[in-house]
Amino acid sequence: DKVVLAYSGGLDTSVILTWLKETYDMEVIAVCVDVGQKDDFEAVKKKAMETGAIKAYVVDVKEEFVQDYLFQGIKSGAIYEEDYLMGTAYARPLIAKKLVEVAELEGAVAIAHGATGKGNDQVRFEAGIKALNPRLKIIAPWRFWSLKSREDCIDYAIEHGIPIPVTKKDIYSRDENVWHLSHEGGNLENPWNEHDPSIYKLTVQPEKAPDAPTFVTIGFEEGVPVSLNGVKKGGLDLVLELNEIAGANGVGLIDIVENRLVGMKSRGVYETPAGTVLYQAHKGLEKLVLDRATMSFKRTVAARYSELVYDGLLFSPLKLALDAFINETQKVVTGEVKVKLYKGNCMVVASKSDFTLYDERYVTFGADDVYNQQDAEGFINLFTLSLKIGAIKRLEAEEA
Ligand code: ARG
Ligand code: SIN
Repeated sequence: DKVVLAYSGGLDTSVILTWLKETYDMEVIAVCVDVGQKDDFEAVKKKAMETGAIKAYVVDVKEEFVQDYLFQGIKSGAIYEEDYLMGTAYARPLIAKKLVEVAELEGAVAIAHGATGKGNDQVRFEAGIKALNPRLKIIAPWRFWSLKSREDCIDYAIEHGIPIPVTKKDIYSRDENVWHLSHEGGNLENPWNEHDPSIYKLTVQPEKAPDAPTFVTIGFEEGVPVSLNGVKKGGLDLVLELNEIAGANGVGLIDIVENRLVGMKSRGVYETPAGTVLYQAHKGLEKLVLDRATMSFKRTVAARYSELVYDGLLFSPLKLALDAFINETQKVVTGEVKVKLYKGNCMVVASKSDFTLYDERYVTFGADDVYNQQDAEGFINLFTLSLKIGAIKRLEAEEA
């Protein structure tokens, strides 16, 4: 039988590759999904074959990842627990989708992955697989094999002649893609330890960012970012370019404690330079074009949507239903937003849209001839009527 393995080329998945062959006598097809982690994919492929895979795939999904996953996230405005832009959460279901596609193509009976039994990623991979092809078996070795630590993996690798990465693995558990880089574990496990800024890879430490601000202009069409500083860009190019600009200004860093789906809290540092700017800019444009009731309801949807994405339920009926609402709201989210980046800060400073609901004729502090201030008196009388009746009743009761 054949098994498809989500393969990165690192120590864990190399050990899993060998372990699958030994334990189940299965043929292993290694699949490395390129979501923008900066790896040498030819080397990864070569390593998979040398470790004993019968076939190795590298699937580049960066464009699809940006356009269909990350940009839908921007449109939704979803931010997990008000901080986290969910770079890992968006990637896992898409990786699962590609694993399923290869499994079906190759006639494999199972999919294996290297996520631990303690985290979110196992849920996201498996929710994706079950939603797309429930007949595939799932093998998650970390949940039941006898290897308990990285040291155990190294011993196993040495015993089985698996090449161990020469670069000394850093102490952090990291996950990288075009959207973000996450850091967990190591000395971050104690939330009283401040993180060391030298861990940043996409972002300049804000104190060391340039003393002059950088301005960027983002163009949106129906909620989707389509241009940078007036130049039309494909989604992936736009994100990569903006990562450089925002990262150089120290924008996009958070250090948070979050609630994992499995019940425990974890602490992480995240770098999301372009994402942070795009979320801010998109919000700035919505403020110009969405009416108050839609904005308010959309915030409620965004909170729920963020949990759905965090929990890996991208291929669920609720996701599609909420997308229908979100996409309807985005029909007017077309325009341009100028953002000022300065030493870790990101502020919307200008915005415009053909669909703007902002009207200087109404809002001006100067004289106008469209708004009758006398209307406000009757409006306030009815708006506050129940307050007034309640207060009268209290007074009358005190006086009686
Ligand atoms: N805590 C974040 C999340 O659940 C990041 C997880 C990173 N995963 C990893 N395998 N390093 O989305
Ligand atoms: C893991 O446990 O495999 C990484 C962390 C997570 O999934 O939340």
